[in-house]
Amino acid sequence: MLSLVNVTKMYSQGVEARPALDDLTLKLEKGEFVSIIGSNGAGKSSLLKAICGELPLDSGKIILNKRQLDGMNPHRRAKFISRVFQDPTLGTVAEMTVADNLVLSHLRGQSASFKISPDNQLENLFKDRLALLEMGLENRLDQLVGSLSGGQRQALSLVMATLHPPELLLLDEHCSALDPKSAQKIMSMTDKMVKQLGITTLMVTHNMRDALHYGSRLIMLHQGKVVHDYDADQKTRLNLDIIHDFFEIL
Ligand SMILES: Nc1ncnc2c1ncn2[C@@H]1O[C@H](COP(=O)(O)OP(=O)(O)OP(=O)(O)O)[C@@H](O)[C@H]1O
Ligand SMILES: [Mg+2]
Repeated sequence: MLSLVNVTKMYSQGVEARPALDDLTLKLEKGEFVSIIGSNGAGKSSLLKAICGELPLDSGKIILNKRQLDGMNPHRRAKFISRVFQDPTLGTVAEMTVADNLVLSHLRGQSASFKISPDNQLENLFKDRLALLEMGLENRLDQLVGSLSGGQRQALSLVMATLHPPELLLLDEHCSALDPKSAQKIMSMTDKMVKQLGITTLMVTHNMRDALHYGSRLIMLHQGKVVHDYDADQKTRLNLDIIHDFFEIL
């Protein structure tokens, strides 16, 4: 479904320079929910940026559902790949209402031939998805997004990213800027949406409990390479001590 083959990226040249992504090969099946962990500088964000096109590769190939992504313009990729960033302000437009933000996502996910649904149908879709958050945002469609809290805004970003289920969802520490309670709420909501909509997902996290608890697979990245890859069954035998040992021996 998603395939990265021998992907390499060096940010800078010189004797000391090391690749951020080092001959990395990774395959994902449809519907997999993969958590990625690794220390600062391991290459996690670079990996997601390479997939969405923000980071051109030095070499290697990225294929998503038989489409070659490397070399493809990031705007074209955004038709089938959604992202939620660490910063809640990045995924939404503060000066626009909740409804208008959702309309933007609605339009972005559509092909040129798409006909806009009648307004009431669209509004119902927005309300249904917002209701999943259990934050009452379905009753605040006309409110400016700039007046929402960070947690509410990040929840909206997630609804926007999954409004028309993308072929691939990329989450880069999307809960790390939130207070612990909001972070847990957004995390469990992420899990609910990803499972309910069957979205193939790559999630970077520094929260080891989340990495263990959520997702169907866990990948450990180090110096731009996948150094451990645990499937759902192997994951059940992991614990926090084993993960901490991984970081100790780096
Ligand atoms: N724009 C850039 N210019 C130069 N080097 C960069 C740039 N972005 C990242 N790097 C380097 O590439 C390597 C991988 O960085 P990356 O941001 O992918 O790590 P990360 O695993 O996401 O780390 P963190 O957990 O801190 O977010 C690091 O050595 C980093 O310094
Ligand atoms: Mg990062």
